[in-house]
Amino acid sequence: MKRTITLSAAALILAACATQPKFDGPTYLNPNAPVEDRVEDALSRMTLEEKVGMTTAQSKFSSRGVPRLGIPEVWHTDGPHGIRPEVLWDEWDQAGWTNDSCTAFPALINLAATWDKEMSLLYGDCIGEEARYRKKDILLGPGVNICRTPLNGRNFEYMGEDPYLAGQMVVPYVKGVQQNGVAACVKHYAVNNQEFQRTQSNSVVDDRTLYEIYLPAFKAAVQEGGAWAIMGSYNLYNGQYNCHNERLLCDILKGEWGFDGVVVSDWGGCRDSEEAVRNGLDIEMGTWTNGLRGAASDSYRNYHMAAPYLEGLNSGKYTTKELDDKVRRILRTIFRTSMRPEPNYGRFVCPEHYQAARDIAAAGVVLLKNEDNVLPLDVPQGGKILLVGENAVKKLVVGGGSSNLKTAYEVNPLEGLQNAYGDNAEVAWVRGYVGDTSTSYNLVDTGQDLTDHRSPKELIAEAVAAAKDADYVIFVGGLNKSANQDNEGTDRYNTFLPYDQQDVIEALAQVADKFIVVNISGSPVSMPWADCADAIVQGWYGGTESGNALADVLTGKVNPSGRLPFTVPYKYEDGPIKTERQYPGIKEEGSKYWQTHYDEGIYVGYRWYDSKGVPAQWPFGYGLSYTSFEYSDAKIDKPAMRKGDKLTLTVDVKNTGSREGAEIVQLYISDPQASIDRPVKELKGFEKVNLKPGEMKKVSFTIDAEDLSWFDADKHEWVAEPGEFKALISSTGSDVRAELPFELK
Ligand code: GLC
Repeated sequence: MKRTITLSAAALILAACATQPKFDGPTYLNPNAPVEDRVEDALSRMTLEEKVGMTTAQSKFSSRGVPRLGIPEVWHTDGPHGIRPEVLWDEWDQAGWTNDSCTAFPALINLAATWDKEMSLLYGDCIGEEARYRKKDILLGPGVNICRTPLNGRNFEYMGEDPYLAGQMVVPYVKGVQQNGVAACVKHYAVNNQEFQRTQSNSVVDDRTLYEIYLPAFKAAVQEGGAWAIMGSYNLYNGQYNCHNERLLCDILKGEWGFDGVVVSDWGGCRDSEEAVRNGLDIEMGTWTNGLRGAASDSYRNYHMAAPYLEGLNSGKYTTKELDDKVRRILRTIFRTSMRPEPNYGRFVCPEHYQAARDIAAAGVVLLKNEDNVLPLDVPQGGKILLVGENAVKKLVVGGGSSNLKTAYEVNPLEGLQNAYGDNAEVAWVRGYVGDTSTSYNLVDTGQDLTDHRSPKELIAEAVAAAKDADYVIFVGGLNKSANQDNEGTDRYNTFLPYDQQDVIEALAQVADKFIVVNISGSPVSMPWADCADAIVQGWYGGTESGNALADVLTGKVNPSGRLPFTVPYKYEDGPIKTERQYPGIKEEGSKYWQTHYDEGIYVGYRWYDSKGVPAQWPFGYGLSYTSFEYSDAKIDKPAMRKGDKLTLTVDVKNTGSREGAEIVQLYISDPQASIDRPVKELKGFEKVNLKPGEMKKVSFTIDAEDLSWFDADKHEWVAEPGEFKALISSTGSDVRAELPFELK
């Protein structure tokens, strides 16, 4: 008898599983085995030498795998803004490949200025794809060091002065990178807030300041972003180098925060074998080879955790306790990246990445002033726009230190506006001033020759003459990535424009009909000349599509929604840094290190200006739009909350103008009854809302006791004190659109 058998779908699936060949290789090679099983299996198979080998570099940007077991080496790459060009095995200079011109994404300060978490995810995903395509396992970025001083040479690589903004913006970036099977290596951990004497400077910070200002962005990256790697910084904290700082790495990062990834040293940041072994450093990179100390013969064997470590293990100085922990973390990273289960191949320099770079750059542009709505540009047919200034043409992706990039192209502001207007208007340019005419960095060339021997007088005369018949004059200046500008390894000397740009601005103001100043920089620039301009735009190092992005905003194709991620002071002296011991620090006779005292404590950025009632030229969170927004019906869902409760605040936001636009609704918390000194307000929420003309949306925030807390260093815990609080809803950081009192029971 013929029997028909109807197998249910479930049975079919079971049957299929039953027939799937059982993985009969070693567990560590089984892509579907749990990561921890793979880690333990691999560890159990490794010799002592193989374990020690994994903890140090084998080349400029790679650290060892275990060839015998088929475990690949780990490839690290800069940087936070794009994938650095390939270098030779042990060189800083690029190797001259022809297929490693990357997408240069906007500087992270530009991303922070978008206040847009979705854009941060997009950014991370795109740069993660490029790293994956280039077969890199650890991306050496993002950087989240707080902008403590406007002079710090690396502010452009970081996310501004507020720990909450930096924390909320770094989380999506980390997730975006890591969803491509690439580890984000959040840097530079920690209290690394100046370039001056960066390898000899000891940061002296009280605990409350450390926990309220300098750790939160790293903590968010680890606990909310799930960061797989952290980079120790060059400086010292509490008198110990941060690449093997027991308190920062063992007690806080791996202890309190439960970090299960790898700690990578900054290049040359490891300074001591025993501390490196015992204090939580997992991968030692760049020792001997970055000019910090002379390269020794076979320097890789001389790494602090190479031969000296093996000798210490063999002599019984060390057990394998620390070593096994390091190797577990490195293996875990490998099984999350190069040996991850689901192979993906990433993408490199594709239209989507260019578009993302352009959109993110444009969304971060901040409109600071727009008298008589001189912007967006309204150029008559056949009209003339005159651009003046070196930054209208200078390629700004090249240089600046380790974030230096080689790109297939970079659109500068002149090209961006010429692209926008085509034959409909003349877009001309004159030099205006001569700044930095260098044309290469690490053998990456800009392909430009900016040589110009004319005197400032001649240059200004040329600009004034050319301005006379222009419908719009746009000065494009600011900083660049040369020494003592926005540049790794050096700090700025002041917050004003360099190269006598102010003279050019003042001269043009006399003759220009409609005069716009675009300041391109990665850190705060004071503008004593602000009254000269009808409009002022804060532009950033926007990367490959920078010029198109700026043109998108100036022409109105994109309605600016950027908000300042840092305070712009009228002058540096208005800020919290008043003494040399605060910055750049002091070096006592006979002392080996500089001591930088963070005496201002938690009063960094707007916290300082608010508490002292000192006006800022442009406050944190500030930015204008081509449209206007009205706030109404702000309310709170209950007048009092208890610990463990959540409080919901809502506010209606309406676009009352004629252009579509995005508003960044900002929520600050104020604790007027605090028993201790607290800032006037602290950012605890922000939401970007896109609105068509006339459209209204309800924006809501949820807060809990954590948002009300301050860090009690004596108790070593966060404290939310019962009493009156105020929720301040703001549009530009300094204006309060709604004030909602509530009580914590
Ligand atoms: C540099 C930088 C760090 C970079 C590393 C590798 O000195 O401080 O940000 O990732 O070395 O280039």
